[in-house]
Amino acid sequence: MVASAIFEIFDGLPRQGPGSNKCTEKAFSMLSHLPANIKILDIGCGSGMQTIHLAGICDNCHITAVDVYQPYLDSLMEKAAYEGVADRISTVCVSMDYLPFRDNEFDIIWSEGAIFVMGFEKGLSYWKQFLKKGGFMVLTETSWFTDCPSEEVFQFWNKCYPDIAVIAQNEKRIESAGYTIIDRFKIPASAWWDDYYNPLGKRLDQIEDKFKGNSEAESIIEFVKKEMDIFSQYSDEYGYVFFVLQKQ
Ligand SMILES: C[S@@+](CC[C@H](N)C(=O)[O-])C[C@H]1O[C@@H](n2cnc3c(N)ncnc32)[C@H](O)[C@@H]1O
Repeated sequence: MVASAIFEIFDGLPRQGPGSNKCTEKAFSMLSHLPANIKILDIGCGSGMQTIHLAGICDNCHITAVDVYQPYLDSLMEKAAYEGVADRISTVCVSMDYLPFRDNEFDIIWSEGAIFVMGFEKGLSYWKQFLKKGGFMVLTETSWFTDCPSEEVFQFWNKCYPDIAVIAQNEKRIESAGYTIIDRFKIPASAWWDDYYNPLGKRLDQIEDKFKGNSEAESIIEFVKKEMDIFSQYSDEYGYVFFVLQKQ
């Protein structure tokens, strides 16, 4: 079992990263020639807002949702039961870099806001084996929207995620890893605020006292506040891009 303040801080939120049901649906609508029974692997699903929405819009799918933190998966299944889609979802508590699946097992791999944990190139390369030939890889990744970011935002991201790249560079990485780009789009700033930063900001206010003296939690809280402040100032310079890809 993973015991880290970060999981507890993000527990109970609608989602654990930027995104929206509208964006999930838009990306799904870009997929074509899907089989009759679609097998989807959702990696780093968190408490599963996108998993449950996908299960709702795709009644002929089965989604295997994986995350390393079991309480997120429990919460996902509770919500799935409430939404009447629990029979289309199973969960596996496992690390994304050591997946217990067969080669060519899935028609779609979906991953919102999680590939950064492994690194974009590593994730693209390692996850590919689990995807059928011609299967789809659909994911979001933070990208620069400019070649010349402002100094403050550049320093922030360079320190916490030096792998961040401009969209064109991410596209090169995708093609080198053996995928064709079907489409891509930037998620709007509202998809950062509505279901993610706004609830997260309220949660930080509620839990700050509880974590006083816990240096790990305090530094995570400080980091998250800084991240939100940076986004509120520089959301035109970087953001999440949804990439819709096909395995060659
Ligand atoms: C930024 S959150 C995104 C969650 C969800 N996809 C969303 O958009 O709301 C990243 C997720 O990756 C999970 N995670 C972190 N390390 C992981 C690992 N090694 N293997 C699997 N999941 C991991 C976290 O628990 C978290 O749920």
